[in-house]
Amino acid sequence: MIETVHVDLGDRSYDILIGQGLIGSAATHLLPLLKRKRVAIVTDENVAKLHLPTLQTALSAAGIAHDSLILPAGEATKSWGPFTQTVEWLLDQKIERRDIVIALGGGVIGDLVGFAAAVLRRGVRFVQMPTSLLAQVDSSVGGKTGINAAQGKNLIGAFHQPSLVLADIDALSTLTPRDFLAGYGEVVKYGLLGNAPFFDWLEEFGPKLAKGDIAARIEAVRISCQMKADIVARDETEQGDRALLNLGHTFCHALESATGYSDRLLHGEGVAIGCALAFELSSRLGLCSQEDPSRVRAHLRDMGMMTDITDIGGDVGTVESLVDKMAQDKKVIDGQLRFILARGIGQAFVTGDVPKDDVLRVMRNSMGLA
Ligand code: GLY
Repeated sequence: MIETVHVDLGDRSYDILIGQGLIGSAATHLLPLLKRKRVAIVTDENVAKLHLPTLQTALSAAGIAHDSLILPAGEATKSWGPFTQTVEWLLDQKIERRDIVIALGGGVIGDLVGFAAAVLRRGVRFVQMPTSLLAQVDSSVGGKTGINAAQGKNLIGAFHQPSLVLADIDALSTLTPRDFLAGYGEVVKYGLLGNAPFFDWLEEFGPKLAKGDIAARIEAVRISCQMKADIVARDETEQGDRALLNLGHTFCHALESATGYSDRLLHGEGVAIGCALAFELSSRLGLCSQEDPSRVRAHLRDMGMMTDITDIGGDVGTVESLVDKMAQDKKVIDGQLRFILARGIGQAFVTGDVPKDDVLRVMRNSMGLA
């Protein structure tokens, strides 16, 4: 069964296909997009071992010529060096504007390749083939592309929509439980920001989904992508509603920076902690009931996820230094931090009206400080 979610953006509209075996059947979905039977694939060394031969065999069988660039795996690849390497490799391959570049991998590869496609010859088309849960439900959809700067994450980039997203659910079976659960942090985020029935559903089906239930995985990815597609169609370049997708991210980015963007804290783990803190802060400000943060934490705990800064382990600096790091957040306007808070589960909104003392108190509690 293949589910389709349409992202409605006028002449930049595209489909997200979600289902099993999509890497092996990629040629069928790519052929209608190709002006000539030639693609360039960019992936990383972990994903290449698991999925590249399947994709290459499928393309060859359909008579589609292909070349592959295999980059090192990990967040460090989302930087100027590998970006330059990718752009120059695509030029060496004589990839033209009418060609298609395929990003096969997780969020790092999707963001980097999307950005390379955005600037190559002032924009070539690209197809996202996300292989991690995080990439399937978030980063492959909506056209945010980019790399990290020494000053912070995702600070260099462009909006460049893919022409197609192929989310092969089978790829999720190759993830470690930790990577799968990190992606689940972004799935929960959708329920919390704007879909209370989806959160109810996750409370019931989340454990099944983690154990490998394919139908539940397809449904969770479909609903997440549909929610993201609706938001992106309303606000492609984040002038308003799209900021809701950053629920939990203001806290998360500070924690990722404090842990050096290392394996100590994966992005989705930071999002889970950030969502728990955003609900704590909302409750503290009297915006939602006290039961809401408890329910958020209970579900994350049931899934075996982090909910507090103490769960990270090791030094994350002082609470003041964490708040300082938040000032690099892309949502800062005129120096004022903006938070995504909630009036209840599924009722998030953006606000700049948050007293710093309350932020400090919520973070201190989460760090086990009185
Ligand atoms: N990951 C948030 C967004 O795409 O807007």
